[in-house]
Amino acid sequence: MVIPSTTLNNGIEMPLLGTGSYAPRQSDEVQPAIEWALEAGCRLIDTAASYGNEREVAEAIRSSGIPRSDIFITTKLWNEDQGHNRTLRAFNRSLERLGIDVVDLYLVHWPIKEHRHETWKVLEKIYTDGRARAIGLSNHYPAHINEILTEARIIPAISQFEFSPYSYLPEVLDYCRQKNIQSQGYAPLVRGQKQNDPRLVALAEKYGKSTYQLLIRWSLQHGVVTIPRSVKRERIRENFDVLDFVISEEDMALMNTFYDNTRIASDPREID
Ligand SMILES: NC(=O)c1ccc[n+]([C@@H]2O[C@H](COP(=O)([O-])OP(=O)(O)OC[C@H]3O[C@@H](n4cnc5c(N)ncnc54)[C@H](OP(=O)(O)O)[C@@H]3O)[C@@H](O)[C@H]2O)c1
Repeated sequence: MVIPSTTLNNGIEMPLLGTGSYAPRQSDEVQPAIEWALEAGCRLIDTAASYGNEREVAEAIRSSGIPRSDIFITTKLWNEDQGHNRTLRAFNRSLERLGIDVVDLYLVHWPIKEHRHETWKVLEKIYTDGRARAIGLSNHYPAHINEILTEARIIPAISQFEFSPYSYLPEVLDYCRQKNIQSQGYAPLVRGQKQNDPRLVALAEKYGKSTYQLLIRWSLQHGVVTIPRSVKRERIRENFDVLDFVISEEDMALMNTFYDNTRIASDPREID
């Protein structure tokens, strides 16, 4: 299976569908889950310093035998590590745990007002030094990004935010499109909270797919890089088996109306 990719604003390719790795109940679930994802054709892995699993991700990649250059690795800078020296140290520690010299994408995990410009400048340096192939922001909404852009020399390549029909804000996607920033959505499955939504169940039946596959497909059809996560082999396969159907424009529009601000993480609109 070949997963389609998107070209970022600096010309590098990123798969449109990958796997998350956040907080499985037990840390020993991470490595097999990433191995199964790679086996299912996944070539994009989303991790973060704060998930405490960068070593397990690295081990899964090593044991898969897939060349490093075929895999797109994202990691993120944790809040307490923002600021000039701390960011550099945290980045070095992430690379060391991942066992790599260059990461594909380095993201600022959450906006922290007092470090906004300083942290981004360090990411720019990491990028121009060739130690990250792309840099970007996570949980930053347009107001935060606009502030960064007033001093930025490099436009973020990616903006990662929570994305499902239930947290869908078209203005956030439009903003990224206008700025030539690729959107990436996390928690596309709303951690299972909406699996019994009758509207979603009806659509899943119509397409002969699961509600989980419908949510992943909806996100992909918005052109958003999507990173569902499971620690179960069958579910991982199911989540990658979404390339053989298309949600009609009418049903996309219907799903766009499911918004009820259900989120698994904080709403960036409430962050200064
Ligand atoms: N930037 C950020 O601040 C941020 C925040 C949150 C998440 N993320 C990233 O986004 C990734 C995805 O988000 P997430 O892990 O929070 O939530 P998610 O992908 O929306 O949902 C994961 C949950 O759904 C279940 N699940 C997955 N596939 C399923 C299927 N086919 N059938 C039934 N249940 C299924 C999983 O259970 P099982 O594992 O038991 O199958 C797990 O409990 C994270 O892993 C992380 O990498 C980033």
